[in-house]
Amino acid sequence: MLKVGPRLLHSIRFRVLMSKYWIIKSSILEAIMCGIIGYSGPRKTSTVLLEGLRRLEYRGYDSAGIAVGGKSCTDGKLQVVKEVGKISALRAAMPADIDGSWGIGHTRWATHGGVTHANAHPHIDNSGKIAVVHNGIIENHTALKTMLQKKGCVFRTETDSEVIPHLIAQYYKGDLAEAVKAAIQNLEGTYGIACIHLDEPGRIVGARNGSPLIVGVGVGEMFLASDITAMVAYTDKVVYLNDGELVDIDEHSYSIIGKDEQKVERTTNQITWELGSIEKGDYPCHMEKEIFEQPESIARALSGRIDAENATAKLGGLNLDRSRLLNVGRVKIIAAGTSWHAGLVGSYLLEQVARIPAQAELASEIRYRNPVVERDSLWFAVSQSGETADSLFAMREVQRKGATVLGICNVVGSTIARESDGGIYVHSGPEIAVASTKAFTSQLAAFYLFTLLSARMRNMSREEGIHFAGALQSVPGMVAETLKARDHVQRIAKKYCRAKDFLFLGRGILYPIALEGALKLKEISYIHAEGCSAGEMKHGPIALISPEVPSVFLVSDDYLREKTISNIREIKARGGPVIVVGVEGDTETAALADEFIPVPKTDPRFYPFSMVVPLQLFAYFCALELGRDVDQPRNLAKSVTVE
Ligand code: F6R
Repeated sequence: MLKVGPRLLHSIRFRVLMSKYWIIKSSILEAIMCGIIGYSGPRKTSTVLLEGLRRLEYRGYDSAGIAVGGKSCTDGKLQVVKEVGKISALRAAMPADIDGSWGIGHTRWATHGGVTHANAHPHIDNSGKIAVVHNGIIENHTALKTMLQKKGCVFRTETDSEVIPHLIAQYYKGDLAEAVKAAIQNLEGTYGIACIHLDEPGRIVGARNGSPLIVGVGVGEMFLASDITAMVAYTDKVVYLNDGELVDIDEHSYSIIGKDEQKVERTTNQITWELGSIEKGDYPCHMEKEIFEQPESIARALSGRIDAENATAKLGGLNLDRSRLLNVGRVKIIAAGTSWHAGLVGSYLLEQVARIPAQAELASEIRYRNPVVERDSLWFAVSQSGETADSLFAMREVQRKGATVLGICNVVGSTIARESDGGIYVHSGPEIAVASTKAFTSQLAAFYLFTLLSARMRNMSREEGIHFAGALQSVPGMVAETLKARDHVQRIAKKYCRAKDFLFLGRGILYPIALEGALKLKEISYIHAEGCSAGEMKHGPIALISPEVPSVFLVSDDYLREKTISNIREIKARGGPVIVVGVEGDTETAALADEFIPVPKTDPRFYPFSMVVPLQLFAYFCALELGRDVDQPRNLAKSVTVE
């Protein structure tokens, strides 16, 4: 039995809080690739903004900037500091005498306009008194720019966002909130904005349409940010804004104005995230920390959800009655990237164990395929962030056709969580590294639980259920055991990380894990890698094999073992080096391989949990050895909220 320590209690509180949000509905379009923060209060504003931006950096890291009002604004303009590159570059560029008492900040993932100093936010109007930070895309910016230029506005950037401060200036008559309200009537597209005016000390006005904006309520201080992580160090009380709302903040209060221009009363939400959960702690990188958190994060995903007595699963948030569950004739899963790989594992498992036909589809493909929604189908949208545009839009498209969609999400109150018809929170805790690791194994846990529940309603006997539930409960321990291979994997990574290409091969339920291993290696080490079904190898990829191209094989001890071993022999016969992640005690495969990484023996259906771990470590150590920025790999952002 799991001991209820402070961490688990924390996770239980976290879950109670999150389940409350699963049912909140809205019809919003999120675009949060950048991060924004605003602060009004007695602390040193530049320090609060920099600290918030540091925590938001995983949202985008092309450039960053802040604008502050206060004593150091001696020339009748807001003080603006921007820098290309990471927050550390902005910190280094910060003048020692900056002394603002309120301000806004932004970290950018470039969409419109190159990565330049000029294009970094905040953007200002021609008087230098109005500054704006923006998340999202203003679709009619060209027309607005032409109109504003005719009125004499001088544009200094290539961004779509710059139209916003100029528009606000056109409407400004001494009241920033009124000017923002009028300006946003002209905007088409998505935005989460925060604005300040030099002549209105302490005031920050925000507005949202499709990009998240959250008010942080402190004592004698207020925050506005795109993400809780930006302010969790200062307050645990937040208020979520909805689309079409505007918020007017000073250091003591906030007021929300709805679409109908009426004041909106909204209660604050208590956040139970611990600051430690978004810090690296003793680890050099978030990714390593998150890999090593997996025994705990998987235990959280499973906690309270296994009904040992009835050998089934309890999933409170599905919002489906027993007859609806029993009548599910097909499962369809939509997701992107790593979440799609979790969905693929889920589809194998559901078919194999619960005998429900299941398919995992790339969200970016399904949306444009005019998908068929069958009456008895049940859909899942899988997303760590709950904000991925491809997944969100695909979900909306199938919902429009009548689909019931369950979300499998990590982030509390995220759009997919709010707009889906029910779902399963995976409780990984905040995942900060851009490359997803602990969210993946928790997504797997959600699918294993759902499979247990579905199978027990159908073909699975109580004895089989007891066995399956027992194997599931032993996953955290099995992953902890696998993590002991850390140093061994590091040595192998050091030896092979200079290779230019890798193949990752697996069969059956391990095929998606091969895809995941290749994706992890590509995204953080920039080494080209392909994931293939080991059975498919001889239909093409085998042409790539040479002594310079290592293959990483996943070898189970199930009915596919012999076939996979034959595939290894085919590679060895052509001089290709072979690294095997296999089952402990498999001396035959170990002897065949150049390198062998054992995982503990279990029911073969559960190897996805353990076999992905050495692949995560391998990618991590290759990237480290090659001097890559592991947590913030080039060109990527944590939440991909544009199509
Ligand atoms: C890979 C990775 C991405 C995400 C994908 C979907 O490590 O992180 O492939 O899995 O962008 O993101 P979510 O799960 O937030 O929808």
